[in-house]
Amino acid sequence: MNKKIYSGATPEAVRRDLAPLVDFGEQGTPLAEVGRLIDERLAPHLADYGLPSFHSFFNTPPEAGAELGAAAALRHNQGVTNWQVSPGGAVLEEMCGEALVRLFGFPETAEATFMYCGTYANQQALYLALHRKAEDRGFDLAAKGLRGFGKPERLAVAVSEQAHFSIRHAVRMLGLGEDSLIRIPVDGRQRMNVEALGEVLSNKRIREDVFAVVATTGTTSTGAVDPVDAVVDLCEGTRIWVHADGAYGLAYALVPEFGPLFAGFERADSVTWDPHKQLGAPIPSSVLFVKRREEFRRMAIYGEYFNREGDPRPNPGLRSAPSTRPMSALALVASLKHQGLAGVRERLRAPLAAISGFAEALAGAPDVEVCHIPDTGILCLRLVPEGVAAERLDALQVRIYERMQASWERSVGITRINGRIALRFVAVSPAVTTASLLESVAAARDLAKGH
Ligand SMILES: Cc1ncc(COP(=O)(O)O)c(C=O)c1O
Repeated sequence: MNKKIYSGATPEAVRRDLAPLVDFGEQGTPLAEVGRLIDERLAPHLADYGLPSFHSFFNTPPEAGAELGAAAALRHNQGVTNWQVSPGGAVLEEMCGEALVRLFGFPETAEATFMYCGTYANQQALYLALHRKAEDRGFDLAAKGLRGFGKPERLAVAVSEQAHFSIRHAVRMLGLGEDSLIRIPVDGRQRMNVEALGEVLSNKRIREDVFAVVATTGTTSTGAVDPVDAVVDLCEGTRIWVHADGAYGLAYALVPEFGPLFAGFERADSVTWDPHKQLGAPIPSSVLFVKRREEFRRMAIYGEYFNREGDPRPNPGLRSAPSTRPMSALALVASLKHQGLAGVRERLRAPLAAISGFAEALAGAPDVEVCHIPDTGILCLRLVPEGVAAERLDALQVRIYERMQASWERSVGITRINGRIALRFVAVSPAVTTASLLESVAAARDLAKGH
């Protein structure tokens, strides 16, 4: 039997175990005892992302350098808003941002900011895009808000139908609502169909209302990389803001053989990236890049006591909304320094190789329908055992998924592709190999028996 991903206890049993931890008495508890409670009562119920049988989400154990950096960040517990609050922390964030701009090959005009997570990075990107639209209409969004648009209900964002749901959150939170989303179909590779986008934008009225196009460089469902180059070409000269959501996939742009797949992301107006995914940086950690650093000025709010206008000293907190910001840069810096770029590339190649080997091994398997050619570290498939009627196949995938989840010996995801339910196999941690993925398919076959 495999090691379980977590204890397998029910929510009720977990509550019983955790009760002493949240029973806050008048008297304190010695640290050793608090540590023992965490180790014995909580740790067994936490998921072990380092198991080769964990194929469901983008989580991974912390990388050793990241762990060291995170511990140092906590030891000093800095609020990295500006020079006054944390001189070293502010400069570290600025220098880390500059180094990341160079590492990914963004133009010199680009700048980066740490964000709480990819969801908020995407939201801020669309907020900045909206500013450009407002400027073109002759008003300041910061002052007038959506009212300045007169007919804000006409504003639209074009996204592929495979975009992450954080884009839905973004338009909800920006007050635009989900009706503002224009869903562009995907092609056979699950990438945004740029021809379809072109058709939508060829309508003058729609083109005037669309203020942003979001391309996903590594979709959550299948890992497909939208053709950003073509999207940027299409939007050139229109003033439409192009955002590349690379929360999951952008890391793979650092692998030279994958460079062509990501071509053009550095031409986008903004790009999201989550180092807490493949790189094993502490959760949460996200970076938002903008192609022109002055775009971040839209985020600045000055005060008398804090962030005073004209202060020339480093002030990374002016690039995003939170006043108190963690020293997220330190874990990433320590991780990149510890691994070296060759080590990072090796770490990133492992899941890519695991998934391409997996796809090759399954080609020709009579009881497996592979749903797409993998672009990155995800492969979706359907088990199609002989004798199961086509209309029962969706239900079969759900059953396999639920049974596998219930065992907690393996963990795969589930998604919908071209209207059909598919099992989703993700490789993120370097522990996941082609062999461990194939073992999960064997387990899925067992779970499908008798149906
Ligand atoms: C493509 C994509 N965008 C955005 C997000 C949201 O990022 P976060 O979970 O850091 O909020 C995810 C999360 O998996 C994602 O896969």
